[in-house]
Parts: sequence; structure tokens; C-alpha cells
Amino acid sequence: MKKYLVAGGAGFIGSHLVERLVAEGNEVTVVDNLCTGSLENISAVLDKIIFVESDICCFDTTEKYDTIFHLASIANPADYVILPLNLLSDVSFGTHRLLEVANECKARFYYFSSSEVYGHQMVSEFFSLSEESYSSIGLLHERSPYFISKMFGEEFVKAYSEMNNLDYIIIRPFNIYGTKMDLKSQYGRVIPNFLKWASDSAPLKINGDGRQTRSFCYINDFLDAVLLLETLSEFQYSVVNIGNPDSISILNLAKCVQSISHKNIEILYENKVEHEPCWRKPDICRINQWIGWYPKTKLECGLKEIYEWIQKRGDYY
Ligand SMILES: NC(=O)c1ccc[n+]([C@@H]2O[C@H](COP(=O)([O-])OP(=O)(O)OC[C@H]3O[C@@H](n4cnc5c(N)ncnc54)[C@H](O)[C@@H]3O)[C@@H](O)[C@H]2O)c1
Repeated sequence: MKKYLVAGGAGFIGSHLVERLVAEGNEVTVVDNLCTGSLENISAVLDKIIFVESDICCFDTTEKYDTIFHLASIANPADYVILPLNLLSDVSFGTHRLLEVANECKARFYYFSSSEVYGHQMVSEFFSLSEESYSSIGLLHERSPYFISKMFGEEFVKAYSEMNNLDYIIIRPFNIYGTKMDLKSQYGRVIPNFLKWASDSAPLKINGDGRQTRSFCYINDFLDAVLLLETLSEFQYSVVNIGNPDSISILNLAKCVQSISHKNIEILYENKVEHEPCWRKPDICRINQWIGWYPKTKLECGLKEIYEWIQKRGDYY
């Protein structure tokens, strides 16, 4: 049995992780300010864990943990475009606080970054003049605080951990999906949106022409990889992609959702979202060679499970 701290454990990924850690018989503390997460997400294990409602920036503890998972961040575009300052201050002060806690007990530290750190702009080598609006990574627009916070978070975790001899790893998740994703926001993550609209027999709204592609990784597969890493006595690498390399266009995703719902739902095309990446596809050679992991769940199976979950809930507004 190990003692875990899961920061952001009341959110989508965090709550699934907490359930798995509890099921394995571990002692788990969750710290979460519930800004986007909910107690309902961890209701199945609430009596088996210690829950601390607190912002990570001022998390107060004297407990000694074996491992800390840092997932606490505003992560949904619908939230981060309106709360950029929270995002940036949380990643600096909050990450620093969690690293201090890790350092006090020499805990292993997992930082959950994002595939967004790869950026999405095509950099032209012929770009010769540096206009203010030009940036090779795309600075100062409504989506940039998120990937900047993750880039900063990665550097911060690396610098602090190496200076203090902490065992750390940076995980870059690529579009993880599963039950307990936020169903409330209208603009955010495409899978819960499409499935929720399908459940309501409402049109599936696509931003742009639908040719943009994404690679979706089912939550259980993702956590299999994370928990396999946790069995290792030491980390061979300091950063790793975790995702599913099978990609699908957003239009084909919409068609898949139509078929799962068995409804003849209309597909509508809306304006393209500015600064949205055209594609995302992870190279997972590193994690595959390292721990022999490869995602198993077919997209259609994962989507069906979430669709059933949404239909059972029916109260998401
Ligand atoms: N879901 C994905 O596909 C995906 C992809 C890339 C990266 N990530 C990263 O993985 C992590 C978890 O993502 P998620 O999808 O579960 O998001 P989520 O919004 O469901 O969970 C984040 C949790 O962190 C909590 N939180 C936020 N700021 C906090 C703060 N200052 N103090 C305490 N708690 C705070 C929220 O209340 C929430 O419970 C995030 O860091 C996210 O950036 C997720």
C-alpha cells in the first residue's frame, strides 16, 4: 500500500485515477478547489479517501506521500479562455507549492502537461520580418495561456526536481476521453458535446469544415499506462506522450456518433475556431518500447459507453 496525493482528483482524469488507486488498496488524499471538478465525480470512493477542498496554491499539509499526481489545472477551453489569469498563477504558485510538498517527503512527482505544448503553427522559414502578430508558437491570443502554462509547468517541474533530486515525470496526454467528462460547457471538448447533442437529438455542430483530425485515447487505456509507469523503480525518461495514434477527422467522428445514437441527426458547419490545431497525433514509440503499452479500446466502444452514461444521467443542464 502506498500513500498518494492526487491534486485535481475531483476532475475527469483525476477521479478515474483516484478510483483505480483506491481499488488497488492505496491510501489516497485528494486536493481540489472544485472550480471545474465535482464531489459527484468521486462519490463512489469519498468514504475511502481524504478529501481536502483547497486551492493547490495554499495547500497546507504535513503528511508524507510516496507519490504526487499533479493534474490540477483549468483544462477545458470553455473555462480557460475566460480564466487565463487563474491558469497562469495556478501553474506557477500551485505547482511550486506541490513541489515543496514533494520535496519535504521526497515523493515521486507526476506532472500532467498537454499535447498543446507541441503548438500548431506552420513556421515558414521565409518569414523574415518580425511583426508583433507573428510568433512561432502563437502568443497572446485567447487559447495561448493554456499551452504557455503547460510549457512553463514542464520547465518548472524539471528545474525544481533536478535541483532537489526529486524523481519526476512529465506526461503529455493527447485527447483523453471517457465518462465523467464535463457536459455543461457548450464549447469545449468535442466528444462530450457530440454525444450530449445526439442524446438530445440536436444537430452536431462542427467548427470549420470537419477535416481537422484528432487522436482520442480512452481513459482506461490512459490510466493503464500511468499505473504501469508507477510500478517502475526509476524513470528512464523525464517526458512521455500518452495517447492513441489512430486519428479520425471531426466529420467522421460526427458520423460515428450518428451511428451510435441510431438517429438521423443533422450535421451543421459553423465558423472555424481561431488557433485551433488542424491535427493532433501522438508518437507513442517511447512509451510502447519502455513499458510495452499500446491503447486497446476501439473508439466506437468508448463512445458507446459514454453515450449510455449520458443517457442514464439526463440531468446535465
Ligand atoms: N482530458 C484531456 O484530454 C487532457 C489532455 C491534455 C492534458 N490534460 C491535463 O490533465 C489534467 C486533468 O485534466 P482533466 O481533463 O481531468 O480536467 P478537469 O477540469 O476535469 O480536472 C481538473 C481538476 O483540477 C481542479 N483544479 C483546477 N485548478 C485548481 C487549483 N488551482 N487548485 C485545486 N484544484 C484545481 C479542478 O477543480 C478539477 O477537478 C489537467 O492538468 C489537464 O490540463 C488533460
